[in-house]
Amino acid sequence: MIASPAHSSPIFEPAAHTALVEALVEQGWYVGANVIDPALCHALHGELLHMAEHDVLSEAGIGRGQQHLLRKDIRGDAIHWLDRESEAQRRYLNAMSELQHSLNQALFLGLFEYEAHFAHYPSGAFYQRHLDSFRGRANRVISTVSYLNPNWPTDGGGEMIIYHPDSPEQEVARVVPEAGTFACFLSETIPHEVLPTQQPRASIAGWFRRNASMGGVLDPAR
Ligand code: OGA
Ligand code: MN
Repeated sequence: MIASPAHSSPIFEPAAHTALVEALVEQGWYVGANVIDPALCHALHGELLHMAEHDVLSEAGIGRGQQHLLRKDIRGDAIHWLDRESEAQRRYLNAMSELQHSLNQALFLGLFEYEAHFAHYPSGAFYQRHLDSFRGRANRVISTVSYLNPNWPTDGGGEMIIYHPDSPEQEVARVVPEAGTFACFLSETIPHEVLPTQQPRASIAGWFRRNASMGGVLDPAR
């Protein structure tokens, strides 16, 4: 057998898939530290910082398609959709395809695609409590967030708070945006929010989707 080169090794250990599936079934969310390969985090972080420095990110909005609105009072990040333009992005998206396969095998979710964007939160930015998908218009099924910030300080802010699905005031987890940490949760039922960050904060937010196209009208991809 030929050993695969380090750069093509999976970012998830098989055991992490199992733990993730179990947590999703039991509580609707999963958070793991040191799940994403440090070298991959470093490469993705570098790409995002470069884009932020060269002002090529887009201000993020809320709502999809024609309902898209810019609301700095609701979310303050700037984004860039991953499109396989670098080896690091391809590696990240390939790992998410493997995760999609595991989720479909274990949970019969019929996930058929994954979309993801880099997100850069400047100092002071936040994202108010929200759901990533509304019931009845199921397209985003499982949300993922990967954090890219090495050595995040304890007073850095910018934690993602996960709330209980049945009592949305009840905090169940506070996720520090440290490089290597991976979070995922059910898009339709888990409220979450990003607290104001005290320094620039880098992440990749992504969604496994079901095909929600109907009546010949294509579901807006983003
Ligand atoms: C989102 C989101 C969380 C984070 O982009 O929808 O909730 O921690 N992001 O970046
Ligand atoms: Mn969200």
